[in-house]
Amino acid sequence: MSDSKKRYTLTAALPYTNGPIHIGHLAGVYVPADIFARYKRLQGHDVAFICGSDEHGVAISMKARKEGISPKEVIDTYDAIIRKSFEDFGISFDNYSRTSRDIHHKTAQEFFTKLYEQKDFIEETSEQLFDAEANIFLADRFVTGTCPKCQNIEAYGDQCEKCGSSLNATDLIDPKSTLSGATPSLKSTTHWYLPLDKSEAFLRKWILEDHKEDWKSNVYGQCKSWIDDGLRPRAVTRDLDWGIKVPLESADGKVLYVWFEAPIGYISSTKEWADKKGIDWEPYWKDENTSLIHFIGKDNIVFHCIIFPALLKAHGDYILPENVPANEFLNLEGQKLSTSKNWAVWLHEYLEDFEGMQDALRYVLTINAPETKDNDFTWDDFQARVNNELVSVYGNFINRVVVLSQKYYDGIVPEAGPLSDEDKQILQELKEAPSAIEKSLDRYRFREAAGLLMGVARLGNKYLADHEPWKLIKSDPERVKTIMNVALQLSAGLAYLSEPFLPFSAEKLKKMLNLKIIENPFEHLKTATYLISAGQNLGTSELLFRKIENAEIQNQLDKLKSTEKDSTIMQEPQKPAINYDTFSSLDLRVGTILSAEKMPKADRLLVLKVDTGLDQRTIVSGIAEHFSPEEVVGKKVCVLMNLEPRKLRGVESQGMLLMATDPEGKLSFMSPEDAVAAGSPIS
Ligand code: 2FM
Ligand code: ZN
Repeated sequence: MSDSKKRYTLTAALPYTNGPIHIGHLAGVYVPADIFARYKRLQGHDVAFICGSDEHGVAISMKARKEGISPKEVIDTYDAIIRKSFEDFGISFDNYSRTSRDIHHKTAQEFFTKLYEQKDFIEETSEQLFDAEANIFLADRFVTGTCPKCQNIEAYGDQCEKCGSSLNATDLIDPKSTLSGATPSLKSTTHWYLPLDKSEAFLRKWILEDHKEDWKSNVYGQCKSWIDDGLRPRAVTRDLDWGIKVPLESADGKVLYVWFEAPIGYISSTKEWADKKGIDWEPYWKDENTSLIHFIGKDNIVFHCIIFPALLKAHGDYILPENVPANEFLNLEGQKLSTSKNWAVWLHEYLEDFEGMQDALRYVLTINAPETKDNDFTWDDFQARVNNELVSVYGNFINRVVVLSQKYYDGIVPEAGPLSDEDKQILQELKEAPSAIEKSLDRYRFREAAGLLMGVARLGNKYLADHEPWKLIKSDPERVKTIMNVALQLSAGLAYLSEPFLPFSAEKLKKMLNLKIIENPFEHLKTATYLISAGQNLGTSELLFRKIENAEIQNQLDKLKSTEKDSTIMQEPQKPAINYDTFSSLDLRVGTILSAEKMPKADRLLVLKVDTGLDQRTIVSGIAEHFSPEEVVGKKVCVLMNLEPRKLRGVESQGMLLMATDPEGKLSFMSPEDAVAAGSPIS
C-alpha cells in the first residue's frame, strides 16, 4: 500500500442493546467517528468503519428481568431500533454486526482459548458477592455500592461511572444487590483472571511515554492515574446464564465477562464485513501499517486503553490502537443524560419532531461536542445554532446564490470577468480551507473543524452582503457575473467540504449545483480555482435548513418537564404488600379543622383543633410552610385517628392529617366533599 493511501480500522463503541440511542451517544461517539470515517474515505484511504450491538452482560439481563421478557427479545428489539437510528442519522458504518452472532461467539472463544493455552490467565477460587434470595453471584450492574475512590454511592460492581474507575465487585463499600436490594453474602467461586499488574511496564511505556504527545489529555490523564494507582488482576469470566460460554470443560455455567468479549466484537464485525466483501480481514487488525482508532465515550477509556490493549498484546498477533480519542459526557439541560430516568433526547423521537433535520442535530452536537470537558445540550442553544448559523448563514448564502443564478442566468453558471483583489482573496481562502479542516480533524478537533466549515459559509454570506449583487445588477451586470461565479465556487467548495459533517445537506447541495463526483475533493480544492464551470447548468433549488420556531422548543422543554415530574413520582417505590386486616386496622375519618395556630419557634408546624365527630382533638401537622392558619380553618380533612399519640415540641398530637405531595413538593389536603359530615368513616 502506497504512503498516500493508508488503511484505517475505525471502531465506534458497541452500544448495549438495552435501550435506544440518545444524543449523548451521538455526540460522544458516533458523530465524531462518522465525520472521521467519511473524511478519511474522501481522502482516498482504505477505511473499515466498524461497529455492532453489544448484546451480552448484565445490562441486558436486567432489562429482560425488569420487563419480564427474555434477553433475546430485548436484544432483538433494541438492535433493530439502534440500527435504524444509525441509518437515519447517516452513520456510515461499513459493518454493523451483533455480538450474539455465531461469528462473534467463535472469535471470542478462540481468543480466550489462545490466552488460556498460553497460560496468560490466573485461575483462582475466591469469595465473591452472592445474592442468596435471587440465587445469583453479583457482578457488574447486579450490584451497586459506594465507590472507594470518589464516594459515588451509585457505583457498579465493575465500574464507577462518575470517576471512571474500574472496580471489582468486592471493592464496593456497602454493596447492595440491584435484584433484591439485599446486602450480599460471600460465596466461593472459581474464575479466570487477567493479571493486569504484569502488563504495567508495557502499558507505562506504550501509553505514558509513546503516546504522551498525541493522545488527548483527558484520555492520557485517566490512563496515567490508573497506572500510577497500581493495576490489579481482573476477572474475565462470570457466573451468569446470559453470555458467551467459557470454552473450558471445567467452566460449566460460566460465561465470558462482557468487557472481555465486547471489544473482540470489533474483530468479529471486521471478519463478517471482509467475508461479505470477499477480502482478507487480517491486515485490518494485524498489519503494523494499519491505523486502528477507537472512538468511545469517557466511561469506556479503561477498557479500550488498558484492558483490551493488554489482551491484544498478550494474544500476540494484533496491532494496538494508534489513538483512542474519547470524549467527555454531554449533559441535557444541566442534568446527566440517563436511559433509566428517561432524561434524554432519543434519536427516533427527535426525528418524529424534526423530520429531515438530521444534519441540524449533527451540526449542533459537533460544534458543541464534549471534547475536552463535559458539555451541556440545551434546546435554546440548539435553536440558536440552527437559526443563526445553519439557516441565517449557510442556508441564506446558498439560497441567495441559487435563486439569483436562476433569476439572472436561467440557472446557468455565468462566466467570470477579471477578478478583483477581493475575489482572489476569497478564492484563496477557499483553497486554504481543506488543509485547515484536515489539520483539525487529524487532531480529533471536531468542534474546531465544524467552526472552520461554517467559516467558509460565513465568508460567502458576507461576500454577497458586501457586494449586494441584487442592487448592482442594474448598474453593472458584467461585474455581477463575476460575483456570482465566485459565490458559486464558494458554494461548490462548501458542498464538498460539508460531506463529512452534514452528509444529507452536502448531497442536496451537490445536486442543486449539479456538481460532479471528484475523486479526492479535499486535495482537489487545494489547487483548483474553478470547481464549477461557466456554462454548466444548475439543478433545482431545495431548502437546506429550516428555521426552528419557539413553540417547537417549548414543546421539547415541556416533554422534559413531564419526564422530570414522572421520575419524581416514580422515585417513591411501591411499599411492600399488606393484607386487608392491616388496612382495616387504620381508623380513617372525616374531620373539620376548627382552629389553627403556628407552633412557637417551629417553622413547619401548625397546631390544629379538629372536630372528628367523636371528639375535638389536637393534631400537630407539618404543613405551616404550605398553608397559613387562616387558610385551613373550616377545611374538611381526612384524619388517621388511631395513630399512637406523640409529643411534638411539648404538644401531644392525637392523630394525623392525610396529605398528597406533588413532584414539586407542594402539599394538598385529601378533602372529602363538604356535604360529608365530620366523623364519617373512610374505608
Ligand atoms: O458502554 C457501552 O455502551 C458498552 N456497550 C461499550 C462497549 S464498547 C466495545 F468494547 F465493545
Ligand atoms: Zn468513583
